[in-house]
Amino acid sequence: MSMNVKKKLNLSNLSTTMSLRDMIDLRKSSGVYAHMLKDNRKKLDIHNHIASLPFGYNQLNFSFQEMKDISMHCQIKPSLGVFPDEIYHEYLNRFMDNIDRYYHKIFLCNSGSESNELAIKLATIKHGKKNFPNYNSHDEFLLKKNMGKLVSDANVISFMGGFHGRYLGSLSTTHSKTVHKKYVPAFSNWPILNYPLEKEEEPEVLQRFEKLCSDSNTAACIIEPIQCESGDRRASDYFYRNLRAIASNYDVTFIVDEVQTGFGATGKFWAHKYWNLNTPPDIITFGKKSRTCGLLFNTQHSILESHQLFNTWCGSGIDLIIGNHIASKINENLLKGVRENSKKFKKRFEEEIKEKYFNFRSRGYIIAFDCESTDARNKLVEELYQKDVIVNSCGEKSIRLRPSYNFTLDHFEIFLEKLKETI
Ligand SMILES: Cc1ncc(COP(=O)(O)O)c(C=O)c1O
Repeated sequence: MSMNVKKKLNLSNLSTTMSLRDMIDLRKSSGVYAHMLKDNRKKLDIHNHIASLPFGYNQLNFSFQEMKDISMHCQIKPSLGVFPDEIYHEYLNRFMDNIDRYYHKIFLCNSGSESNELAIKLATIKHGKKNFPNYNSHDEFLLKKNMGKLVSDANVISFMGGFHGRYLGSLSTTHSKTVHKKYVPAFSNWPILNYPLEKEEEPEVLQRFEKLCSDSNTAACIIEPIQCESGDRRASDYFYRNLRAIASNYDVTFIVDEVQTGFGATGKFWAHKYWNLNTPPDIITFGKKSRTCGLLFNTQHSILESHQLFNTWCGSGIDLIIGNHIASKINENLLKGVRENSKKFKKRFEEEIKEKYFNFRSRGYIIAFDCESTDARNKLVEELYQKDVIVNSCGEKSIRLRPSYNFTLDHFEIFLEKLKETI
């Protein structure tokens, strides 16, 4: 490693996340390959910045107009909740056309955690309004001191193994690694249900879910279509369909966290489309591949007073323009390719990999398999890195693959060859 590179990598110690692995040269990175600084080599990237890069490196070809509009938003970041500009409105409309016109409202955020935090907040506001539509100035006086009936003690149901973020509210619905939760206050009365991976477990969970929903204190439930951080664990479509139906019956807000699964990752634009729901989710949260994060919500949740969902910027015009560009490229043809390639890769994996790596599972480009142990998994991540392949770990002993949409069957073959070398 040259002195220059060493210096650059030392600079990265400024970061407080304690999680840095290497530095990328973005100018030299292209398509599905990242150019890494430590060993000055191109690596096949199937990590993709924690599943957030839909088209790999340097593949977005913005139009002249988009570039002009992005640069306008470099000059000023408008306070979109108060003085939105015309450019923003134009793109917001196109964005809604591209992602889901069913939803009545959208609020843009800067992270998946924030999106979930606000989805939970919105659900509890709806719940509180229903229970306490009338209040007086004394109630408001008490509220300033976090007291009185306007302080919600509503419950939000979540599922063991779920991951919805690291902020103060969303963290109480996160039950993957403990490191995120250590020493942080929690809503400890919020119910946590078992996440059923076997058919036989479903009736009991659904029964418990119904009992909780029938409690007038329950405002919402939040769930991922696939528990990604916990190891790509997926309950059945039947289970989700029933969950949604029960939540509807009791007017409990059904929040679907599509931060990792949305924007085509599973081979459908939204993963919840696999469930064939009679009633769509009340709120969908999104992030990662969409560049701009946010939440979509239905008419029943459009009950806010001014400034209840609010911050200085209310998202970012630049991220919206980029997010819209990305959304416009995710068409049925691309999704079909994701579904078909995924199936072909599964077949090839099962043909080629007969020992050491198990339990291959996939839905579109959400792909994972298991190693024998946590240590073996961690070793494999490092070994593959030395072989110029970047993958991420998840769950106890799983490897997750998050190919970008320009990942072809040839790239899958390259990966398989490298994986076979580690056996
Ligand atoms: C399903 C899910 N929800 C929420 C989040 C949190 O998103 P962010 O890290 O952008 O806050 C993640 C991140 O991995 C996620 O996978």
